[in-house]
Amino acid sequence: MWKIRIFFMPAYQGAEMVSAISTLILLMASLTVVMASGNGTDCDRRCLANILVDKELLSAPQGDNCTITVNITAIQYQTLSFDTKAMQMNSRIKINMQWKDPDLGWLLDKYKYPAVVLPVDTIWTPTIVLDNALDTTMEPYTNDVQVRRDGVVEHSIILFTSVSCQINLFNYPYVFGECPVAINGWRQKFCSLKLNIADNVSLIGGSQGEWQTMNVSKIADKSQANRNYLLVTLSINPFGAFVTLILPSALIMLADLMSFALPFQGGELNTFKVTLVLSFTMFLLILNDHLPNGGNCSPLLYYHFSFCLVCLVLSVLISLVLTRLAEDSSIIPCIRKKTSKATKTHGSGKDTEPGGGQEKDNPDVIETKSGGLISEQASLQKIVKFLEKLDKEESGKDSIVAIAYRLEKCAFFFFLTIYILYAIILICITRTDICKVNNLDFWDQSTSEVDSYDYSSE
Ligand SMILES: *[C@@H]1O[C@H](CO)[C@@H](O)[C@H](O)[C@H]1NC(C)=O
Ligand SMILES: *[C@@H]1O[C@H](CO)[C@@H](O)[C@H](O)[C@H]1NC(C)=O
Ligand SMILES: *[C@@H]1O[C@H](CO)[C@@H](O)[C@H](O)[C@H]1NC(C)=O
Ligand SMILES: *[C@@H]1O[C@H](CO)[C@@H](O)[C@H](O)[C@H]1NC(C)=O
Repeated sequence: MWKIRIFFMPAYQGAEMVSAISTLILLMASLTVVMASGNGTDCDRRCLANILVDKELLSAPQGDNCTITVNITAIQYQTLSFDTKAMQMNSRIKINMQWKDPDLGWLLDKYKYPAVVLPVDTIWTPTIVLDNALDTTMEPYTNDVQVRRDGVVEHSIILFTSVSCQINLFNYPYVFGECPVAINGWRQKFCSLKLNIADNVSLIGGSQGEWQTMNVSKIADKSQANRNYLLVTLSINPFGAFVTLILPSALIMLADLMSFALPFQGGELNTFKVTLVLSFTMFLLILNDHLPNGGNCSPLLYYHFSFCLVCLVLSVLISLVLTRLAEDSSIIPCIRKKTSKATKTHGSGKDTEPGGGQEKDNPDVIETKSGGLISEQASLQKIVKFLEKLDKEESGKDSIVAIAYRLEKCAFFFFLTIYILYAIILICITRTDICKVNNLDFWDQSTSEVDSYDYSSE
């Protein structure tokens, strides 16, 4: 029993000492850890970045007055496409920005690095509001951002956006229009994200098929805060539309006009003109596929094509009537040629009338008479009379044909005058600014009330 007690006493004291020593070692170890983390040389850039990441600064840096200011240092704008039928513009916009997040900064005597790189999704980044966009995709340009010692973060984003934009197509294909792309922060009652947009907007890639981007500039609405937009100036390269629509329409009209100089007998001219009308309707289909045809300001080209179509059909109708006049000596459909009528009435007994209707001098009538009892001299006289009559009839027909040709000539000059007048009127109309469009009606008017809020009353 005693032996055991002797054995236990030192054992108890030993355990106490071990625990004291281990506590001391633990204390010293944690002290060295603390000191190591406090020395820049022991913590490299990655370690510093991890420390910043561990802060989980995913909410916006909110100063005393809850205003976050983001400087936009450069904007690179590119038009990807413009859909003329839907009136939509797709663009790619690269935005370089800078803002200050004081919590991300560090002291020079703690870490000597001027800047570190952090993954972009571990800190707060501003979102840009595009007021008039139909669809926007925002992507970081790089997956990492640079953070400076003073807490300034430099970041770039790429926006793919499509905006609806009304462009006055009245003078198509000679079109010049402007599309706004609103780039802004946001504003609530107390807090806001303010963008300071530099005037440094560059344009890359000017030509996208039919549409060309001429210029892009930043416009700031002075009367209202947070109303900045990029004004994109677009124009159409008229070559394609001129070659495929305007030139063919003018040539078809010319061909139609010149066809008045052709003889219209035989009906071939009518076939030709109908072919022109049919080919013209094809252009109307092309136009309809390509251009918007609603709205309050339809392209003048629609009216032009309608006018051309009406003129072509009118020309076909005139040509048909003249052909009939020349062939049948009459333009009224139910009256047949007089000679054929006479043949039908042969033997109806009208021959007894002396010098009456022409029916009497018909070849058939003469035959019956010459076969009769009248003397040879009389019959000769009759023949001469008949020939004279025939001659007269022939010359009468000739004169009708001549009248038809004269009418055709009149039609030619009529159409020529109309076309010249039309061209003059068309040029005058295109010079005037008939259609006006307002593309800046997308602003949310309710934000202007917020502007007058008294912040000091908070
Ligand atoms: C910190 O690093 C410096 C060398 O840059 C060294 O002289 C100093 O002793 C270190 N401090 C601590 C507390 O370890
Ligand atoms: C908020 O504070 C910043 C400076 O910290 C100042 O520039 C800005 O004008 C202030 N905004 C308002 C609305 O007071
Ligand atoms: C933003 O721009 C203003 C004026 O140009 C400048 O004073 C400020 O330092 C800039 N802020 C940042 C974070 O770059
Ligand atoms: C605009 O930004 C580019 C870089 O994005 C720079 O080279 C150029 O000097 C800037 N121009 C102005 C006027 O600030």
